[in-house]
Amino acid sequence: MNKLLALLLTALAGPALAQDVAALTVETKKAVLPVVPKVVNAMQEAVADKGVAGAIPVCKEQAPELIKVKRQETGWDIRRVSLKPRNAERGTPDLWEVRQLADFNVRAALGEKPETLEKSEVVSIDGKPVFRYMKALPVGDVCLKCHGPAESLDPALKAKLAESYPQDQATGYAKGQIRGALTVKRPL
Ligand code: HEC
Repeated sequence: MNKLLALLLTALAGPALAQDVAALTVETKKAVLPVVPKVVNAMQEAVADKGVAGAIPVCKEQAPELIKVKRQETGWDIRRVSLKPRNAERGTPDLWEVRQLADFNVRAALGEKPETLEKSEVVSIDGKPVFRYMKALPVGDVCLKCHGPAESLDPALKAKLAESYPQDQATGYAKGQIRGALTVKRPL
């Protein structure tokens, strides 16, 4: 009997879940996405004011700090991840994130605009429902200064990056490619 009931509940939950996902997506984006233009603007200003090497703290400290504040505000797990992380300790994706990042690359290759790529899903983690959201972070002009082809980088910047990130994988990108993603986990 219990099995039947469970099946019935699952069937009933189907359409309701789709609505939940849409509502959760809207709410999550509203809370989290304002961080993205803040970081990009801070980056552009810092590069203009202090030069590329002087702008490292924006991606290294300011972006993680803004994310941390959002984490405290919302109680959700929010991070930046990449298939080629510069800071592997913070930026290594889990399996679900690897799949979405790979899928973003496929979708971009098939013509979707990189800045529109996102994914929402309710998944089960340790038997508990968790809402997951991911938003692609495309490479714009300013990003190339620190994530473009290694041979094109400013020598002083390169030296600084090598010091902090001996395992850096985050170079060699072209404009419009996907640098990584903002990722959110919300226990339901
Ligand atoms: C001034 C140099 C600089 C510029 C310009 C820059 N970044 Fe970064 N980026 C870094 C550094 C340094 C890190 C490592 C941060 C850390 O230690 O967590 C990083 C890390 C990241 C990460 C986290 C994943 C990882 O690789 O560790 C993402 C995502 C990212 N950058 C995206 C961007 C995007 C998108 C732009 C353009 C809007 C950009 N960056 C511009 C220096 C830069």
